[in-house]
Amino acid sequence: MPEFGQAVRRFWTLDWSATHLNHGSYGATPKPVLAAQDLVRQDMEKAIGDFFTRQLPKRLRSAAAELGEYLGAASEDVVFVDNATAGVQSVIGSLALEPGDEILINDQTYNAVKNIARHVAGRAGAKVVEVTLPFPVEDDGTSIVETLKAGLSERTRLVLLDHITSATALVMPIERLIAACRTTGALVLVDGAHAPGQVPLDLSTLDADFYTGNCHKWVSAPKGAAFLWAKREHQPWLHPPIISHGLGKGFIAEFDWTGTRDASPYLAVPAALAFRQTFGDSRIKARNRALAEEAGAYLADTWKTRLGAPASLAGSMRMIRLPLAGGDHHEIRAKLWHDHRIDVPINTLNGELWVRISAQLYNEIEDYRRLAAAVRRL
Ligand SMILES: Cc1ncc(COP(=O)(O)O)c(C=O)c1O
Repeated sequence: MPEFGQAVRRFWTLDWSATHLNHGSYGATPKPVLAAQDLVRQDMEKAIGDFFTRQLPKRLRSAAAELGEYLGAASEDVVFVDNATAGVQSVIGSLALEPGDEILINDQTYNAVKNIARHVAGRAGAKVVEVTLPFPVEDDGTSIVETLKAGLSERTRLVLLDHITSATALVMPIERLIAACRTTGALVLVDGAHAPGQVPLDLSTLDADFYTGNCHKWVSAPKGAAFLWAKREHQPWLHPPIISHGLGKGFIAEFDWTGTRDASPYLAVPAALAFRQTFGDSRIKARNRALAEEAGAYLADTWKTRLGAPASLAGSMRMIRLPLAGGDHHEIRAKLWHDHRIDVPINTLNGELWVRISAQLYNEIEDYRRLAAAVRRL
């Protein structure tokens, strides 16, 4: 009997009459983690005053310490935010930009994040510079590094780097990209929305200025659990998107309290980490990556199309070109769901239709065979 796939589906509440190939977009929280989140909520509702005034500050720091250990970071450099969007907003929104300053993004920067850069830069009379990355990628990532370098100037104040791109599922050559930015005085913000839990991550050696990542995608935490890490020297000028009582009282005071809210997603992060340990964190990453690779090769071969990137730039998600001459990607996606009960994102890139598959422990190769057959019938 296989170790994963069908054998572990009992851990998730997903409806197994459907095929779920989109873990990357929102994650899917395992039942033991949801149960731990429920216990946190019970603690909160049992003794509300005690929970918010005495338990919560300590429990947040203890959860941050466990998450920090997982990320290779000191707990005092890690704060919780609701999602990666909020992490990016905290950094970009805190920049004191001047007219003529530049923020460097690329065409594959997540659209919500592009909007943050444009909004903040626009108010300051600063500029957003967007370079166009190669896709599909044919090399080891050198073309990506060279393209980014060409966008740097002496006015670049911040470079936004996706650790793993959303629309194209590329695991960026992040160390090389950061090293390229270090030839200028620009600050580097890594948007790691997809990275924790999908690829190895050690913030103690990654030379970023800021790193934000989601725990609700690949770490298996409940929705609304993300973090922001910042180098100590930047922490005094960083503010959360919501200013509250902690203003001016330091990084942790500002971020740990942003008004009354349900902190159970944050406090359930240790349960998510423990759930991963029942399988082994590295084993999960390796197994998902191997399944994505096998499934990607199978689909490209069956459809006689191609992959979006070589294996060296891939994690637990893969892009495969669809064998369809044209069509609206929203309609194709909706048809796959309504007619075939398959949830998978489809995108149009450079005029071609591409599918992004995800591989999580509950997936098995049969899921991708169903996708292959459904696409053939389209
Ligand atoms: C690169 C990137 N940044 C940011 C986000 C936004 O994540 P969230 O909706 O959790 O804020 C995503 C979501 O997929 C993403 O892929």
